[in-house]
Amino acid sequence: MKRSIIITGGAGFIGSHVVRLFVNKYPEYRIINLDKLTYAGNLANLKDVEDAPNYRFVRLDICDFDAVLRLMLEEHVDGIIHLAAESHVDRSIKDPFTFARTNVMGTLSLLQAAKVYWETLPEKFEGKRFYHISTDEVYGALALTNPEGVPSPFTTIASSAEHHAAYGLDFFTEQTKYQPHSPYSAAKASSDHFVRAYHDTYGMPTIVTNCSNNYGPYQFPEKLIPLFINNIRHRRPLPVYGKGENVRDWLYVEDHARAIDVIFHRGKVAETYNIGGFNEWKNIDIIHVLIKTVDRLLGRPEGADEDLITYVTDRAGHDLRYAIDSRKLQRELGWEPSLQFEEGIEKTVRWYLENQEWMDNVTSGEYEKYYEQMYANR
Ligand code: NAD
Ligand code: TYD
Repeated sequence: MKRSIIITGGAGFIGSHVVRLFVNKYPEYRIINLDKLTYAGNLANLKDVEDAPNYRFVRLDICDFDAVLRLMLEEHVDGIIHLAAESHVDRSIKDPFTFARTNVMGTLSLLQAAKVYWETLPEKFEGKRFYHISTDEVYGALALTNPEGVPSPFTTIASSAEHHAAYGLDFFTEQTKYQPHSPYSAAKASSDHFVRAYHDTYGMPTIVTNCSNNYGPYQFPEKLIPLFINNIRHRRPLPVYGKGENVRDWLYVEDHARAIDVIFHRGKVAETYNIGGFNEWKNIDIIHVLIKTVDRLLGRPEGADEDLITYVTDRAGHDLRYAIDSRKLQRELGWEPSLQFEEGIEKTVRWYLENQEWMDNVTSGEYEKYYEQMYANR
């Protein structure tokens, strides 16, 4: 079947992996990458597909309703995979307005443009799909222990539903109530509500997924993993927030892209799916793994860069723990993560070390100023 799909935010970290997967896997589809190219968008992330005949890039702000609507009409769009967003919690603390504008108003503009366009067609919403990519952060934060105060040995790739049940620990399910804490997660939560409202009010065929922290190639180096790999390489301080005890549930980005493919094609309209790899790590434990891996790959003595660890003032409102229960997706659509964390981290560290030019390009200019300012405030 031929399809014409807009992928928003396709020049960003996750979006570029989704664009690559769809352009290569579905030569019969037309893939339109709609991206404003903010500081986080980078066409160098898509060099390998930019000349593909089924690919088009359009530089556009999702808030520009008229232009988005025109593009949908021109391209006869029947599917939207919406990733464009402001995505960094620390930035949202400094500049919440931008997050409300892009994540809330931008999503609303996209929803309304799709509604207006699709309602002009004889078949209306038939065969259409509006797929909104969200985050586990909308659910708030979980405790590090069970109600009896028993902690889980978090540094383990064996963490699983059974493991959590044994300790009586919680994780986020599709039924968990929304309790966002940061301006980022509050804006994402609001956009999720708008997407569901468009289904409930107008019958728009929507799907929402909430995924845990992603890692892998092409992530902007303001996020923990690429920032720390680059800092270790250059022997810069590693700013660990608080005690480094916060827990995140990490998923390799290509596994997220594969989940998006499966859900876009086979997910049920109006459903929510959680996406995660049952892979919880304390920040400080990941940091030790990163130091060990970078040092080994650069031929430095083991532990040589441990002294770069620098504990700094905690992030305001720092969520303690995220953990996703993705059993619904596994059960209903048969998706499973393909990579073990050790393998994924090794691939990721190698990629950043081998792609220093990419890193140098994205860390020059404006980024330098941002980075210096972040550090000056600590
Ligand atoms: P990113 O910051 O790397 O990329 C965002 C992209 O959106 C950039 O290319 C940027 O240019 C574009 N963009 C921003 N504002 C825009 C606008 N107004 N109009 C058009 N384009 C705009 O983000 P990411 O980490 O790839 O995240 C993508 C999506 O996945 C986001 O919606 C995010 O909330 C969600 N998500 C991210 C993670 C994660 O760990 N990174 C986890 C779960 C969900
Ligand atoms: P981040 O990559 O910003 O993702 P998120 O906040 O969306 O989970 O941060 C991951 C974890 O690492 C989070 O607990 C905050 C922590 N962190 C640091 O300790 N130092 C840093 O410099 C950064 C960027 C993050």
